[in-house]
Amino acid sequence: MNIAILGTGMVGATVGKKLTDLGHKVMMGSRTSGNEKALEWVKKCGANASEGKFSDAAAFGELIILCTNGAVTIEAIGLSGKENFKGKTVIDITNPLDFSKGMPPTLIPELTNTNSLGEEVQKTLPDAKVVKTLNTVNCEIMIEPSKLSEETSIYMSGNDAAAKEKVSEILRSFGWTSIIDLGDISTARGTEMILPLWIRLWGALKTGHFNFKIVK
Ligand SMILES: NC(=O)c1ccc[n+]([C@@H]2O[C@H](COP(=O)([O-])OP(=O)(O)OC[C@H]3O[C@@H](n4cnc5c(N)ncnc54)[C@H](OP(=O)(O)O)[C@@H]3O)[C@@H](O)[C@H]2O)c1
Repeated sequence: MNIAILGTGMVGATVGKKLTDLGHKVMMGSRTSGNEKALEWVKKCGANASEGKFSDAAAFGELIILCTNGAVTIEAIGLSGKENFKGKTVIDITNPLDFSKGMPPTLIPELTNTNSLGEEVQKTLPDAKVVKTLNTVNCEIMIEPSKLSEETSIYMSGNDAAAKEKVSEILRSFGWTSIIDLGDISTARGTEMILPLWIRLWGALKTGHFNFKIVK
């Protein structure tokens, strides 16, 4: 499948590499074409990888994955050209974190509790099928959950059942065996608001390689 990765950070690079390894054609998008990190990533991934502006990548992808800084994700969508998302499934991995006052980051108030970044993305792209997932784990765990000593779960939020099934296939190809469909996109409020706890656990455990285990 042709897949767009919007974002040149560690999430975009890690998830994008995994997708090229799985045989997908992946274009990484950035504010500028020829972005240094994107060029480095293409070199590392080989023939299945390419790079360009956010809008080039969004036009290329049958599936679009948002891996941008959460505070500017809506701006990045604007730069990508909203028309390029029409009818497509969009995986949203972003978190509404504000790093402007240093560490630890805080949740952006307007995007929490009674709202979420996932919902804002869906409102911005009414003709796309947004699925929030993978935002609750470190990027190395996203693509290789078996790094953890036990099976854990990944969550999914979205309004469109067919899009969630398509995203489940991608998640299974990454190794996720327990996928919990939380419901519509408003359920992203819960997975985004778990970040303050995730960040404190990261500090306490001194590793990002962990996940929450759901026990009934
Ligand atoms: N790190 C993890 O393991 C992890 C885990 C779960 C979720 N997340 C979430 O995943 C997302 C990506 O994280 P990351 O650390 O890989 O990357 P990041 O540093 O948060 O974001 C990098 C991307 O944001 C773009 N960007 C920055 N300022 C911009 C602006 N003013 N307008 C438009 N785009 C702008 C950059 O564009 P350029 O390419 O042009 O510089 C770059 O592509 C975040 O929302 C994060 O919360 C991260």
